[in-house]
Amino acid sequence: MAKATVSLAGRDILDLESFSVEEINLVLQTAAEMKKIMKRDIKKVPSLRGKSIINLFYEPSTRTRTSFELAGKYLGADVVNITTSTSSVVKGECLRDTILTVQSMCCDAIVMRHPIEGAAVYAADVAKPVIINAGDGAHAHPSQGLLDMFTLREKGLKDLNGKKMVILGDILYSRVARTNIAAWNKMGADVHVAGPRPLMPYAVESLGVTYHKRIEEAIEGADVIDVLRIQLERQKSGLFPSPREYARIFGLNEARLKLAKPDCVVLHPGPMNRGLEISWDVGYCDQAAIRDEVQNGVAVRMALLFLTLTGGKQIEAAN
Ligand code: CP
Repeated sequence: MAKATVSLAGRDILDLESFSVEEINLVLQTAAEMKKIMKRDIKKVPSLRGKSIINLFYEPSTRTRTSFELAGKYLGADVVNITTSTSSVVKGECLRDTILTVQSMCCDAIVMRHPIEGAAVYAADVAKPVIINAGDGAHAHPSQGLLDMFTLREKGLKDLNGKKMVILGDILYSRVARTNIAAWNKMGADVHVAGPRPLMPYAVESLGVTYHKRIEEAIEGADVIDVLRIQLERQKSGLFPSPREYARIFGLNEARLKLAKPDCVVLHPGPMNRGLEISWDVGYCDQAAIRDEVQNGVAVRMALLFLTLTGGKQIEAAN
């Protein structure tokens, strides 16, 4: 493995805006090494032996929580999961006290998901352990952005410069959209978004994207399509007429996918609302890299834990 000229040692991972291209590349190169470890028969290595990681999730999760847990365990760390619905949060304990409580148990990292934008930044101000943002409201989901980029590299999209990247659907409530827009713009990509106007942030173009009312226009000639989950749990009132209407006008189906480049890669952060934002056939088609994203999530999260908790100094011990 190449010697790192940049370091993420001790760094809170809060968003991708604050990452340099070199730091993104360091994570992705390290993730490639980590993927080799997770493909072994015996996955456990001692790189994080003696380190403790707490997964503190204020919102439901299947992929992110499980993959951070496996990532820590594959690297030899002790990992504890706190689901807030069965914790003292239900007795009224505030975020600051919850963070200080787990910090008192001498953990080295807190992986946190929270429904409120800025919660991870607040936690990083309060806490001494490394804070890894596993999603804060509609703000950021940095490990998702990194695993998406890792997946695209595996699919042959190593250089995103000038590539047409399309994000479809619920941009307003999507931390994945904000994260990928920031990361893809940093890499020189040509980023487009499409979806119902009520699901677009105010002045969406100021994020560095081209907005299309019709999704066909956005998809035409696309190299990558990232389909977003409609986040009904965050919508205060119906922002589109009906699920059937949404699928008809804005859903990605086989006919629409044909407008993209033949080797266009389809991403979806999951969980999918099949038949709503993505059709059943597209969700299972060869161009869909959705299960690759899940697998790569473990490798990327191993890389993040390893780089933040060791500075990347013990990769040899991992082999
Ligand atoms: N992509 C993602 O964050 O999925 P989960 O909500 O299942 O973690």
